[in-house]
Amino acid sequence: MQIQVDGTLMNVGVLFSELDIKERTKKIAEQINKDYGNKETLVVLIVLHGAILFGADLVRNLEMPTEIETIRIKSYEGTSSSGTVKLVTPLPTSLENKHVLVIEDIVDTGRSINFLLNELKQTKALSIKVCSLLDKPEAHEFSIQADYIGFTIQKNFVIGYGLDLNGKFRNLPYIANLTKA
Ligand code: IMP
Ligand code: MG
Repeated sequence: MQIQVDGTLMNVGVLFSELDIKERTKKIAEQINKDYGNKETLVVLIVLHGAILFGADLVRNLEMPTEIETIRIKSYEGTSSSGTVKLVTPLPTSLENKHVLVIEDIVDTGRSINFLLNELKQTKALSIKVCSLLDKPEAHEFSIQADYIGFTIQKNFVIGYGLDLNGKFRNLPYIANLTKA
């Protein structure tokens, strides 16, 4: 597939297929089930919009009593990080004394997750961990290490399976690299 980005024709190359994602999601869920056990409630906090597909697929593989919360933060314009992060929706009010697992689409500079983790400190959650579908270690500007990572990738901009380019392409069932045609 080819798409136009700001007047430039780009190739969309599949990096992780639907099956790759499905298998990896199952593996991560197995690890989460092992780590948390199946008794205590886990609050899965899905960061919108990027982690919506990954979060929805991951929770289906969890075995503990699970609550789903969402939060929306904004940090990105086009294909580069904007430098400022904002909460677009308020923090969920129900995290006190609960184990919270934040689900992110990608840790790029780490600015967004660093910001969100700071905000979450005031919720009095019992524990807070991070599960990110993707990690771009070469792009980190903050010392952030997600507890669970789907795939580690290079600095390239990717789209699909929740990840967008100016709001579009989140619906692709695979994760794709964009390269100049
Ligand atoms: P960070 O704050 O720099 O870590 O960026 C985090 C946010 O930027 C992610 O939650 C994504 O929404 C967006 N982002 C970073 N890299 C990509 C990418 O390659 N494709 C699409 N969105 C990205
Ligand atoms: Mg985004």
